[in-house]
Amino acid sequence: MGFKVGLLGLGTVGAGVAAIFQDRDGRHPLLQALELHRVGLRSPAKPRPIHIPAECITTDLESIVTDPDINVVVEVMGGIEPARSLILQAIAHGKHVVTANKAVISRHGDEIFTAANQAGVYVMIEAAVAGGIPVIQPLKQSMGANRITSVMGILNGTTNYILTQMQQSGRSFDDILADAQQLGYAEADPTADVDGLDAGDKIAILASLAFGGRIKLDDVHREGIRAVSASDIAYADKLGFVIKLLAIAKRPNAASPDTGIPDRLQVRVHATLVPKAHPLASVNDVYNAILLEGEPLGQVMFFGPGAGAGPTASAVVSDIINVAALLKSGLVAAKPDTQSIHPLLACSHHSYSQVEPISELITRFYVRFLTKDHPGVIGKLGTCFGNHGVSLESLVQTGIQDGLAEIVVVTHAVREGAFHTALEEIHTLEAVDSIASLLRVL
Ligand code: HSE
Repeated sequence: MGFKVGLLGLGTVGAGVAAIFQDRDGRHPLLQALELHRVGLRSPAKPRPIHIPAECITTDLESIVTDPDINVVVEVMGGIEPARSLILQAIAHGKHVVTANKAVISRHGDEIFTAANQAGVYVMIEAAVAGGIPVIQPLKQSMGANRITSVMGILNGTTNYILTQMQQSGRSFDDILADAQQLGYAEADPTADVDGLDAGDKIAILASLAFGGRIKLDDVHREGIRAVSASDIAYADKLGFVIKLLAIAKRPNAASPDTGIPDRLQVRVHATLVPKAHPLASVNDVYNAILLEGEPLGQVMFFGPGAGAGPTASAVVSDIINVAALLKSGLVAAKPDTQSIHPLLACSHHSYSQVEPISELITRFYVRFLTKDHPGVIGKLGTCFGNHGVSLESLVQTGIQDGLAEIVVVTHAVREGAFHTALEEIHTLEAVDSIASLLRVL
């Protein structure tokens, strides 16, 4: 029995998916049972890196999601609309869906998975997080025995490339970004990448799988890398760190049965000083990695290409094969019904997780001050920090720049809210010119 696939989108990822369908030898034999039946695209005149027979191509995307012959709809168009509406329409027509669209899933996962469960179909999302790295299926299936405590990753290749180049060349963020844009490594509008929004979408999805509740994207604290300067990278290096854009989801404390205080998650994205010996510190250039921690497994790290035609298509086609396997084995009826849904592949979330505000975070900080070069300035800084219970781990003053002293402080772990109160007081000191940068330390 053959299964028919409808592809929405023939950009980089769509062309990568079609290329796998056109070259099946040596891959999983189930691919032979799949037919790339129709391809929907919006700009037929645009040059494509792959040839698709003209009779398979349509610009009428709705005709794909409503086609009674198609079993699986693959959405690789990106963007919110019309992708969201087409996914919902495909589900309403009893199609299984495979998507690489982290923006739609992180914002509209609730309505999409609720509709899929009601229709008895699957929405598969391996390609939505970290491109070719298998992390969704491990979280859904292979790690099921574990109580997961932490998910921490480098989930954005563009920012990892920029930070790696800054580290290796000593050049500024603006210079490296401009070069990356010219080389096509960064988008003309780099906002989603450099402001931490893309990584925020991805960690929201991983957190919901790891901790068993949906995540409201607005609850995810997102900061990017625009404020990271060449000086910060140089100071971090001297102090034994590299700077990475980390996406972190943690369950810091289990719910207390005595107090009834609810279990709250941390879900955040920010530039972070990472000790050089940490496994994520050596993940460079456009590569992604995810470090999962669970009990009893301990730590496991996934590393690889987080974007690109081939890697993302690898994840998309593996999801298609998973659906084909279910259809072939009869575990899912060709005409879906809600009774036959596979419990490890369907979404089982019924509620939203509580996410702790960033002011409650307990973390170490790195802060770089520019001050007047007066006697007693370091003492005053120490007193303000002490007044708010902030204990200092190290303090470096290397010299004078433009008549101002540069003082770099790393604190011991402190509640973020208390740290900011100390900084507000420090800001009022006559000797302090500015707080040039503020970063968290792992
Ligand atoms: N823009 C992303 C990145 C790839 O730079 O990693 C797609 O998610």
